[in-house]
Amino acid sequence: MEVCNENKRELDRQNEYIEKSRVYVTAFQVEHGRLPKACVVTFGCQMNARDSEKLTGILSKVGYELTDSEEEADFILYNTCTVRDNANQRVYGRLGHLNSLKKKKPHLKIALCGCMMQEQAVVEKIQKSYRFVDLIFGTHNLFRFAELLSAMLASEDMIVDIWEETDKIVENLPVKRKYSYKSGVNIMFGCNNFCSYCIVPYVRGRERSREPEEILEEIERLVEDGVVEVMLLGQNVNSYGKNLENPITFAELLRRVEKIEGLRRIRFMTSHPKDLSEELIEVMRQSPKICRHLHLPLQAGSDRILHAMNRRYTKAQYLALVDKIKHAIPDISITTDIIVGFPGETLADVEETIDVVRRVQFDNAFTFIYSPRTGTPAAAMEDQVPEEVVHEGFDKLLAVVQETAKERAALLQGKVMEVLVEEVNEQDPAFVTGRLSNNMLVHFKADRRLVGKLVMVVLDTCHGFYYTGRMVDWLSQTKHTRLGKMVDNQWLN
Ligand code: SAH
Ligand code: SF4
Ligand code: F3S
Repeated sequence: MEVCNENKRELDRQNEYIEKSRVYVTAFQVEHGRLPKACVVTFGCQMNARDSEKLTGILSKVGYELTDSEEEADFILYNTCTVRDNANQRVYGRLGHLNSLKKKKPHLKIALCGCMMQEQAVVEKIQKSYRFVDLIFGTHNLFRFAELLSAMLASEDMIVDIWEETDKIVENLPVKRKYSYKSGVNIMFGCNNFCSYCIVPYVRGRERSREPEEILEEIERLVEDGVVEVMLLGQNVNSYGKNLENPITFAELLRRVEKIEGLRRIRFMTSHPKDLSEELIEVMRQSPKICRHLHLPLQAGSDRILHAMNRRYTKAQYLALVDKIKHAIPDISITTDIIVGFPGETLADVEETIDVVRRVQFDNAFTFIYSPRTGTPAAAMEDQVPEEVVHEGFDKLLAVVQETAKERAALLQGKVMEVLVEEVNEQDPAFVTGRLSNNMLVHFKADRRLVGKLVMVVLDTCHGFYYTGRMVDWLSQTKHTRLGKMVDNQWLN
């Protein structure tokens, strides 16, 4: 009850700041004859993408018009990532450009938030060398964005507000979704795993799960608003609910989400192999809504490296887990993340990783070159791997990853499968792009009004990582369904 009241008070506070900032928008409109435009640029993972929807939600409420063009914007907000150093370098590179934009347009306001801002050294560098930035805040006080925005609009000085930690989860802030038909839903924040290479636990804080009722309510509202697919988000969804006052498993949460009428597809990210339960496999197996896709980061195949990474599973355990999953759900697509070049990793270790790739036959694997992150145990390890060795291992691994992914993709040739139409094709507007339950993309000719609908498609031609296909006409689609009910043809209504 106390938590509810606290949440309500915070929401009321933020709404007051939204109203305050609207005064600025009105003044801007009088002066410039138009609404101010805001551009939010997102770096990093789905978690950040969802945060950006919250940020744009607040900006819209304040009255900003949203734009993708930095050149046109009167306010630019970078929601940053710091998982690898190249993410940081991209931000610094683009800041140089923003400086020149601001010289041409002095009223331009620039703000930085997200994971990178939780690093003290980064904030110090910006305060010193990027004086033109107007506002810096972090991941823990994102819910105070309305307040910070209003302070920024009233000030000429750089405002910096970074919290070390938070135990708060503030619910029900305004959100502006990027897609009308699908949405990310945070089920937990932070991470307790402390993989030795990873900075996420330091910049996102300790693991905090949302109450299941809050999650279910949010999804119900989303479905009422036209959402047919949700992606449940957390750094390690398999440990969801363990620390709640009334503990609940992730599998149980899925069972409850599954019951929401009108919701058609459920995805989730990310699963840590060490916490993936039998119960979860069983729920996935039985579910018509949970997508046939599991992202199961491997990181490395060598036991020595896995141990040094603090992943808390062995190669054999990972392989046994995959066997169990594939046995229970034969049509599942398994994707993964792999790091090459962790301190002490030899080419023989990389061969172990390649062996896992061959045995599991991943449908896709994101391969990363190890990037030392300040403050993590791995960054202080002595045996950092020379660049040439890293590249040799990386190239070898990538070749096998691509080969196995292609083989897996080819297996779907000629099949008729359900696709969620996601967008009008970028290259040819007569085509649309859709996604299979197993996460693969399919391009096919169709009316753009089908965006957000589920249709059946024949997978005609495999192009390595995606298909081109043909939509099954509605008459034959009705034949696929019991009693001729147009279950899959909701797009006709
Ligand atoms: N919570 C997720 C991962 C989030 S980060 C999980 O554990 O599965 C996404 C991916 O970035 C990780 O899976 C890892 O492969 C990669 N990554 C994280 N830290 C890295 C680093 N220091 N260098 C290179 N890749 C890294
Ligand atoms: Fe990083 Fe490991 Fe947590 Fe994933 S589980 S966010 S890799 S510490
Ligand atoms: Fe990057 Fe933060 Fe996500 S560091 S990967 S945006 S949690």
